[in-house]
Amino acid sequence: MPGTLLEVRDLHVEFRMRDGVAKAVNGVDYAVAEGETLAVLGESGSGKSVTAQAVMGILDMPPGRITGGEILFRGRDLLKLKEDERRGVRGREMAMIFQDALSSLNPVLTVGYQLGEMFTVHRGLSRKDARAKAVELMDRVRIPAAKERVGDYPHQFSGGMRQRIMIAMALALEPGLIIADEPTTALDVTVQAQVMDLLAELQRELGMGLVLITHDLGVVADVADRIAVMYAGRIVETAPVHDIYKAPAHPYTRGLLDSIPRLDRKGRELYAIKGLPPNLTNIPSGCPFHPRCPLVRDVCRTDVPPLYEVEDGRGSACHFWRETLHG
Ligand SMILES: Nc1ncnc2c1ncn2[C@@H]1O[C@H](COP(=O)(O)OP(=O)(O)OP(=O)(O)O)[C@@H](O)[C@H]1O
Ligand code: SF4
Ligand SMILES: [Mg+2]
Repeated sequence: MPGTLLEVRDLHVEFRMRDGVAKAVNGVDYAVAEGETLAVLGESGSGKSVTAQAVMGILDMPPGRITGGEILFRGRDLLKLKEDERRGVRGREMAMIFQDALSSLNPVLTVGYQLGEMFTVHRGLSRKDARAKAVELMDRVRIPAAKERVGDYPHQFSGGMRQRIMIAMALALEPGLIIADEPTTALDVTVQAQVMDLLAELQRELGMGLVLITHDLGVVADVADRIAVMYAGRIVETAPVHDIYKAPAHPYTRGLLDSIPRLDRKGRELYAIKGLPPNLTNIPSGCPFHPRCPLVRDVCRTDVPPLYEVEDGRGSACHFWRETLHG
């Protein structure tokens, strides 16, 4: 793929726990082009965050272990780098935004100090210049009265403002890639939209690649270029965002789409995918979605579906993707 920024190839991650081995990531493939937004979607426990943590090099190891695959960033396999080289990539070339700013920011240091630290540590700026940079960043993420507030502590900001600060921190060194893991989930609905719009706008302005992890299909349509849907640690469908909304090629994606509340279906009962996500220490045979799938046939219980090519740039891991697409 030309202009590929990040490519995850056949990634496998497991967690060795007392009650067995949880296979959290089971052969994930995805790619993000320079300047592109990839939304990663899926129910709780599908491996979205673990994949992102592996890319960032912040996986909890042990109990986590990467048992296979490659993570190519601008062509370099990050899994082959030494820890100090890896640290250089983190922050400078890629940065992450988490759900909960309060636990990611240091409560005893001012926001200005923490933002400034990016520049003193990575760019060798003086304290004074770094503080000016911090104010500039706070302006950029539209924190009102940045100059007056640069000396405040994280708890003095509202949740939405704190999330803006975390975005500012991630943008500080203008990395090529940002991974945002449920960046707005902890916020009020109205604030969610504002923060998401800001993130999307800055991403476009700076031309960064963005991996946006979310289980909110509602926000995806406006901001993402492509979608990757995860189930039981695999990508089950990947496609340009508009194609997937028009016609999903995997029953799981269809289930997700049908469970979004929509105005044009007001009054009708909301669909819910039946059953629960699989136990990762004992993933069902064949297609891991088969116990919950409305289209299940015998072959689904025995044969693992590969990611079939639906068309150029579109894949579905369903033996019956044709029927799903046209059904
Ligand atoms: N630190 C950990 N220790 C042990 N197991 C873990 C750890 N982190 C993740 N896992 C396992 O990996 C699975 C996938 O976790 P992951 O955090 O990637 O899910 P997710 O798709 O991000 O879900 P959510 O939407 O809830 O954030 C978990 O269900 C759990 O079994
Ligand atoms: S392979 Fe079978 S069980 Fe899996 S999603 Fe397709 S139809 Fe459903
Ligand atoms: Mg997660």
